[in-house]
Amino acid sequence: MLRFPLIAPTRIRALLALAVCIATPAFAEREYEREGPPRALTPEQAERAAENYQKYCVLCHGEDRQGYLNDNAPSLRSQSLFESGVPHAILRPLSYGRIGTAMGGYLDEVGGPLTLDETWDLTYWLFWESGADRVKLSENPVPGDIGRGEAVYQEHCASCHGAEGEGVNAPALGNASALAHNKDEFIRYAIEKGRDGTPMVSFSGVLSEADIDNVTAFIRSMAEDGVQETITLRALPTPDEYVINPDGPDPDFELMEGRYVDSATLHAAMEAKQRMVLLDTRVTSVWQRAHLAGSVPFPYYSSLDEKTLGLPKDVQIVAYCSCPRSASDYVIDQLAELGFERTAVLYEGIFGWMNQGYPVIRAEGALETPPAGASNDH
Ligand code: HEC
Ligand code: HEC
Repeated sequence: MLRFPLIAPTRIRALLALAVCIATPAFAEREYEREGPPRALTPEQAERAAENYQKYCVLCHGEDRQGYLNDNAPSLRSQSLFESGVPHAILRPLSYGRIGTAMGGYLDEVGGPLTLDETWDLTYWLFWESGADRVKLSENPVPGDIGRGEAVYQEHCASCHGAEGEGVNAPALGNASALAHNKDEFIRYAIEKGRDGTPMVSFSGVLSEADIDNVTAFIRSMAEDGVQETITLRALPTPDEYVINPDGPDPDFELMEGRYVDSATLHAAMEAKQRMVLLDTRVTSVWQRAHLAGSVPFPYYSSLDEKTLGLPKDVQIVAYCSCPRSASDYVIDQLAELGFERTAVLYEGIFGWMNQGYPVIRAEGALETPPAGASNDH
């Protein structure tokens, strides 16, 4: 009689996995063709782009484009992103934002501060700063087994990207505006190569080629049939409209940590028609999409001298963003230096406010709902 040595089941699985590795080319890395670089910038364009980056992007993506300064904003210098994403995976989020995330749109067409030329130059500036070489990616869809891809996703990806792709401390992979622009091969490339210098590791060698396809197909399947929406931009309020309920009583908030007011308290003050100024400190394009009634767009990159002209010092000011607090904290700190003492920050931010069911004024045509997983404390 033959006797088998006793091997623990886990050992057997490991041995089997090893055998599969050797027997099949499943873990072989793909080869990519190089694609030529985009146009170079003139020194003036580069200088302007660097200034725009400094003014509009540093708050979240950081001085050195390293990401993670605020709101888990991703790196804007990883090689893999700039190899695979230029121009559209950069230009689109920069221009139109990722709706439902802290990333707003910066193009003038949607109410942002940058012209079309400036958004292109900033895209290319980021590329040249990254030092990456572009790779050629196919436009074709990546076919895969969606059911199997979902299982892989739940096991390997959900802890960071969220069970439903809503993003926890990593980009919202199921985000409709991301899926509208990111082609399958761009998504696949990120999974295969990771994003160097970030928590996103390479899954090449961890997952088989087939499973990388499967999980890509699963991510694609999260895209809803997108209804392309065009919103109507509204006129910005003028200084005589800054104070809401100018004849109402003073709110007299008791602020948490000397600064924060929660959504329930602010909502009650609005219902009681109390006198306040509400500042929306996000990029103005997202104020256009949805904002608290009566709020004034006061983006974090505003020139303070100009903007504070119409702001009263004796009225309670409440600032909010979606971050939930980074942009509003930043603005309130600056106002404090200018001698504004009656200031507060909405603790949960506008997504927290919406998730608690409080009302916002939406643009005509906007379909936005708050992100399912938008937390109050990330
Ligand atoms: C208020 C914070 C904030 C500011 C300011 C901001 N971003 Fe972002 N950005 C984010 C977040 C958060 C994401 C990821 C959103 C997601 O997909 O979940 C993001 C994503 C991006 C992406 C997509 C990156 C990728 O890996 O797919 C690009 C490109 C980008 N931002 C460029 C910019 C540029 C350029 C500016 C300045 C004009 C800017 N952002 C300003 C928060 C910000
Ligand atoms: C440890 C946390 C973590 C895990 C686990 C993880 N990711 Fe990521 N992922 C990230 C972070 C953080 C980023 C953003 C990196 C950056 O560019 O700064 C990212 C970026 C990505 C991107 C690029 C998104 C974009 O818009 O550029 C894709 C696609 C992606 N991950 C897919 C996956 C898949 C699929 C899995 C599972 C197989 C996975 N990730 C597992 C943290 C994680």
